[in-house]
Amino acid sequence: MLNYHHSSRCYAALLCAILAVACSRPSSIEDKVESYLSQMTLEEKIGIIHAQSKFSSAGVPRLGIPELWTDDGPHGVRPETLWDAWASAKWTNDSATAYPSLTCLAASWDRELAALYGRSVGEEARYRGKDVLLGPGVNIARTPLCGRNFEYMGEDPYLAGELCVPYIKGVQSNGVAACIKHYCVNNHEVNRHTVNVNVSDRALHEIYLPAFRKAVLEGGVWSMMGAYNLYKGEHMCHNDVTVNKILKGDWGFDGALISDWGGTHDTDEAVRNGLDLEFGTRTNGIDLNVSNAYDNYYLAEAYYQGIKSGKYSEDELDDKCRRVLRLMLRTSMNPDGGLGSLNSPEHWADARKIGSEGIVLLKNEGAVLPLKEAPRKVLVLGENAIKPMAVGGSSSSLKAQHETSILDGLKAALPSTEIVYERAYQGDPVIKGYNYSFYDITDPRSDEQLLEDALAAASDADYVIFVGGLNKAKFQDCEGQDRLEYHLPYNQDAIIGAIAAVRPDLIYVNVSGSPVAMPFADEVSAIVQAWYLGSETGNALADVLTGKVNPSGKLPFSFPREYADCPIRTEAQYPGIKGEDGISQCDYSEGIYVGYRWYESQNIKPLFAFGYGLSYTSFSYGEARASSSKMGRSLTVSVPVTNTGDRAGAEVVQLYVSALNSSVDRPVKELKGFEKVWLEPGQTKTVKFALDEESVSYYDEGLGRWVAEKGEYEALVASSSDDVRAKVRFTKN
Ligand code: GLC
Repeated sequence: MLNYHHSSRCYAALLCAILAVACSRPSSIEDKVESYLSQMTLEEKIGIIHAQSKFSSAGVPRLGIPELWTDDGPHGVRPETLWDAWASAKWTNDSATAYPSLTCLAASWDRELAALYGRSVGEEARYRGKDVLLGPGVNIARTPLCGRNFEYMGEDPYLAGELCVPYIKGVQSNGVAACIKHYCVNNHEVNRHTVNVNVSDRALHEIYLPAFRKAVLEGGVWSMMGAYNLYKGEHMCHNDVTVNKILKGDWGFDGALISDWGGTHDTDEAVRNGLDLEFGTRTNGIDLNVSNAYDNYYLAEAYYQGIKSGKYSEDELDDKCRRVLRLMLRTSMNPDGGLGSLNSPEHWADARKIGSEGIVLLKNEGAVLPLKEAPRKVLVLGENAIKPMAVGGSSSSLKAQHETSILDGLKAALPSTEIVYERAYQGDPVIKGYNYSFYDITDPRSDEQLLEDALAAASDADYVIFVGGLNKAKFQDCEGQDRLEYHLPYNQDAIIGAIAAVRPDLIYVNVSGSPVAMPFADEVSAIVQAWYLGSETGNALADVLTGKVNPSGKLPFSFPREYADCPIRTEAQYPGIKGEDGISQCDYSEGIYVGYRWYESQNIKPLFAFGYGLSYTSFSYGEARASSSKMGRSLTVSVPVTNTGDRAGAEVVQLYVSALNSSVDRPVKELKGFEKVWLEPGQTKTVKFALDEESVSYYDEGLGRWVAEKGEYEALVASSSDDVRAKVRFTKN
């Protein structure tokens, strides 16, 4: 037994030694932040809060702090541009895996898949030396015409929030920061730099903020991108209400707010309203032939002089630098992020899995799908069966290391089948994305000839598959412009109708990232929503069409029959009315009634509902039970679900909550839970949903907070927003 005094002296000495080491060498990220900050000069501090090139910002060479590299985008790592310009750097080693668009991930309703997606795309970013991956995008699909719906995660804030969190964690597990965007109320592209959005506090908090809030509070996102538009007259990249009060105040965001490229417009606002890292401001070292145009950034020379003159203290600057240093220590200076990997068979398998799990089977009359084993002859029609789609769409455009077309995917899946291809229509024959990849699929035939040849070929095929939809050319699913019409382009409605007239068993595959009109829906036998699926497009779709994969996707947004059914009915609502000052005032006067919330409030039946999707098997639901008839702070709803078909499959069981006697106007129901359950034939599993006060709350504008009102509620267990299978009432006391 040690002499007590002797042993205590030993412990004291040991403790001092440990403290001495800890004090001398900063251990935690926060210690390192403070240590670096205390060593940095004013010039060095200014240097790290704005860009030094198109996609990078400076480090501190003197202290060994590396540059910070960002890159697009949500579904894959963008190839290199020139130092100062958008143009391609024409490298030959920067192709990557093109993953499915985020609407496809949203359509999977699978949290684990979202985590896989984030890990996988994060590995590619890590390997390519990118510290910040500029995604995911979670702006709510308020109008079907928005050019960037394909980059986002649908019309419901709960779905977008639940799926962006695992994606973010997956990306960040590689020591790469996700950068959730575009914060916020950036829901269309027309006049995106000059539109001021007028939206109620309730709609802001119930519809447009939740996904961003979850990304911060549950996803721990390390960076966020301010949007281009204005709100309450201030640009979102430096907005007092949304940045100082909500993001950094209420939510306690400790990451860096990064401007969208060219989204910064004022030094004073940028200093005071929380912009931490300025990119893409409209200066370009080459065009302005100044020594360094980046000194002209709002957070550069102007800010530096403002501090020197005493206009600004260094307090805001130190906060910005802390956030940027923290971002660097989590990424470029993070030794635990692993090495990453690029263009690996594992990543291709990930892309294929995400694609096949996100594909939505919308119609399957007479069980025309899956295709029977080894059919004799299959006719594939439509430009989108051969059109490369990884390029296009603007900033999320990719140089895919490979991209299997739908035609090639079917050929690979049906080796003994004669597969005939006819174009049927010509839409956008030359595809280019940032000048680094041109595909010329021009066809010399006239429209009439194209259709005639398609009809002629349709006569003796076992199956006819028409692959149409949108593409990522301008004025379709493409950043910077919205669609000009809700119907399909290139006269596809008529062409599909003509082919269905001779082949009513036609299988229509819709490639799009937005809802589209389908006036032919009753004339075809099958409809498959195929999204933009990236490198493994053809293989993922063939997996579903051949039945190798049983489709389990559900729509992340509604397909209204006609645009007139949408909540957007006036120019003031979209795209807004331009004033003398050049600012467009856009009124979100539909409030919280977006997507299914709108259609159900108006008893409008969409062509396909939010949450809808078929399977090659079928599911039955038992009785829903609540753990109690009264909700104090929480309640569990459980329901048995059975696979009543003859093949394994997955069902996305959705839980909606209805307030039956609320004191305020509320949607018929709101999504507050979902679970994807995989079932063998005949298997039953009990699915459980944990509800809490957040599940029943609405945002009270008068009180400026969420309220979980006492009253009667109903939990609706559903296979789709328009297909409720079980209900159970409870009281909130
Ligand atoms: C673009 C987009 C943004 C992208 C950025 C960099 O304009 O709005 O999503 O990440 O600029 O390309």
